[in-house]
Amino acid sequence: MNGTVTPTTSGTYDFVVVSNRLPVDRVFEPDGSASWTRSPGGLVTALEPVMRQNEGAWIGWGGQPDLEFEPFDSGGIRVIPVVLSDDDIGNYYEGFSNDTLWPLYHDVIAPPSFHREWWDSYVEVNQRFADAAAAASAPGAVVWVQDYQLQLVPKLLRELRPDLTIGFFNHIPFPPYGIYSQLPWRTQIVEGLLGADVIGFQRVADASNFQRAVRRLKGYVTKGSQVEVPLIDRSPGVRVFGEIKRQGSFRTVVARAFPISIDASSFEALARTPAIQERAHQIREELGNPKTIMLGVDRLDYTKGIGHRLKAYGELLAEGRLSSEDVTLVQVANPSRERVQAYMALRDEIELTVGRINGDYGTIAHVPISYQHHGFPREEMVALYLAADVMLVTALRDGMNLVAKEYVACRFDEDGVLVLSEFAGASDELKRALLINPHDIDGLKETILQAVSMPKRDRAARMRSLRKRVIEHDVSRWSADFLKVLESRAHHGSPGHPL
Ligand code: G6P
Repeated sequence: MNGTVTPTTSGTYDFVVVSNRLPVDRVFEPDGSASWTRSPGGLVTALEPVMRQNEGAWIGWGGQPDLEFEPFDSGGIRVIPVVLSDDDIGNYYEGFSNDTLWPLYHDVIAPPSFHREWWDSYVEVNQRFADAAAAASAPGAVVWVQDYQLQLVPKLLRELRPDLTIGFFNHIPFPPYGIYSQLPWRTQIVEGLLGADVIGFQRVADASNFQRAVRRLKGYVTKGSQVEVPLIDRSPGVRVFGEIKRQGSFRTVVARAFPISIDASSFEALARTPAIQERAHQIREELGNPKTIMLGVDRLDYTKGIGHRLKAYGELLAEGRLSSEDVTLVQVANPSRERVQAYMALRDEIELTVGRINGDYGTIAHVPISYQHHGFPREEMVALYLAADVMLVTALRDGMNLVAKEYVACRFDEDGVLVLSEFAGASDELKRALLINPHDIDGLKETILQAVSMPKRDRAARMRSLRKRVIEHDVSRWSADFLKVLESRAHHGSPGHPL
């Protein structure tokens, strides 16, 4: 996994990605030694070619407290650490990022907590990421900041390095103003984001919500996807002293939707592998060859609507409209953010419900829910997608939901039915899925029955149309589209436009 990255002569890089987590995981061997493996995410797959061509570096956290290490090369990417202490993890990561911003940005499904010490830590850690990016960037470099954990970095970085071209992509929703305005630090976050040249969102609605927040909080003019940011801040409450030399002049920031995707061809290639197809058959057999296998795959998160899905399924079993002899639901629930209270409570609630359904409607031979509280290697996931007749994505709010796209990418056999929440960003693109409102339990039950009994011809027609979208709009097209717009914003006269 070692590739060679040649930094520019000054030890800096032309293309720098900044994200909370690095694209590598630290794994410990039984003998106590540790090494790094590449995490399998789509983002790193999409950016790897750009990194290789452009002396790329990736700045982020190594996933454990106080983990210090020298930068190293991993498959053409220079990996540069930002160190987080236990306190940083508690206040910046688990606190402000995942117990303030995460619930607030997901329609306050869980109540967000507002703590001033969490905010202070968020500011301090964002400054640390900005300092690291400033130190690693060559003159005129392009820097692409990722996600809600780092919303202050664009502004902080622009202050340190006005020569850089800065992009930001928000992987999660951006909430409507009525919700966003609860945030005591709402103005600072908007100002932080506006330090970027291009701000990307998943859905058109997210970009509109952001633009409205900009108009309400800063009074700036927005025109289409462009925000006019005055070069001298004359927004309410800011006093401007001295001569205003460039009164009326502004920089434009692009804020628009760039829906993210997956590396569709690599999923399809795996699905076409005979060994994985064999494994899919084996999974069906291990489950007792039910007529229908339904599948849910989620991080164990309250945004995913797992409880709503279980309620609908449990009622269908109770009413005898589905039987555990005919149907099995495989629910993969990846452990996530396990020290945050709302996640602990969710786990208890889901596992109680799973236990009740299995106890009430199972037989010795047939268990209605096969519940898996752990992740699986990608190969096993692809086999599960191939084995599943119905895929249930019932998120209450989700930036995109890549699981929906992975399922579609794997179904080269043009079979399988996708049930998809209209509150997941993917529903803007995957219009021929069976779209549902997960809050409407009766509607969800009817749709599950429709999916289970859909004739093959209809399944194939729908899947063909879904596949066309996912294959044509894959993650490399997403990154190319974003970087093209970012490049077009590059400052004239700065040395070198690397991309
Ligand atoms: C979401 C976020 C990512 C985050 C991931 C896993 O997809 O958009 O930024 O990395 O969840 O969450 P974690 O807290 O484990 O990084």
